[in-house]
Amino acid sequence: MEKTPNHIGIIMDGNGRWAKQRGKIRSFGHKAGSDNVDRVVSYAFSKGVRTLSLYAFSSENWARPKEEVDELMRLLEVYFKKFLKKVLKNDIRLFVMGDISALSSKLQKIIIDAMEKSKNNTSHVLNIGLNYGARKEIVTAVKKLIKENKEITEQSILENLYTAPFGEPDLIIRTGGELRLSNFMLYQGAYSELYFTDVLWPDFDEVELDKALESFSKRKRRFGALEEE
Ligand code: IPE
Ligand code: IPE
Ligand code: MG
Repeated sequence: MEKTPNHIGIIMDGNGRWAKQRGKIRSFGHKAGSDNVDRVVSYAFSKGVRTLSLYAFSSENWARPKEEVDELMRLLEVYFKKFLKKVLKNDIRLFVMGDISALSSKLQKIIIDAMEKSKNNTSHVLNIGLNYGARKEIVTAVKKLIKENKEITEQSILENLYTAPFGEPDLIIRTGGELRLSNFMLYQGAYSELYFTDVLWPDFDEVELDKALESFSKRKRRFGALEEE
């Protein structure tokens, strides 16, 4: 009786250190990291995961050197273009959570096009956190409710987060060894199971995902109540 998480969030961390270990510049690690996304997405979906939320660029990552940010944006353009075909063929809905208005108009267009073309796909959701920060997401949701003169409740906030149509992550994985959430899905993750691994993102393969899934399958989720006998 294996339990598979319906929705997994992944904080894809460790690209820079992966490159450093090989005596290369950080961008080399970002390239390897972006190549790894396809492998993990395909495997997770083949295992019955319906929604994947991947943290690609945080609202705090703008603080990095311009060359690194530029390279990450370039890789994102390549990624979205390259994966659109695959997404459409495999009935995947591609979605971006985050404030895309700060991105280049070229990247915004690519993203909007991909979201539009895949919006009716229902088998899987690939949700990419891009210029995403959970605190800002919560503030934006609350401001919207106030503006619309709506009641502020736990449920109404939940319904106004980017992820409203996809629900809350059952499992959040962080690669790269840091034991923190770095502003990722703070509201939706209130009861997510957490899995941390030292494995750096470019090395996080099928075997590593299996370990996370196995760990999840052994967890007892109580949501504050008592375990059933
Ligand atoms: C994660 O890898 C990718 C992004 C945050 C964009 P890092 O670039 O943070 O890699 P480390 O943590 O420095 O190794
Ligand atoms: C979190 O990683 C953001 C992404 C993986 C996109 P960071 O490397 O930015 O997180 P900190 O700075 O170590 O908290
Ligand atoms: Mg990092």
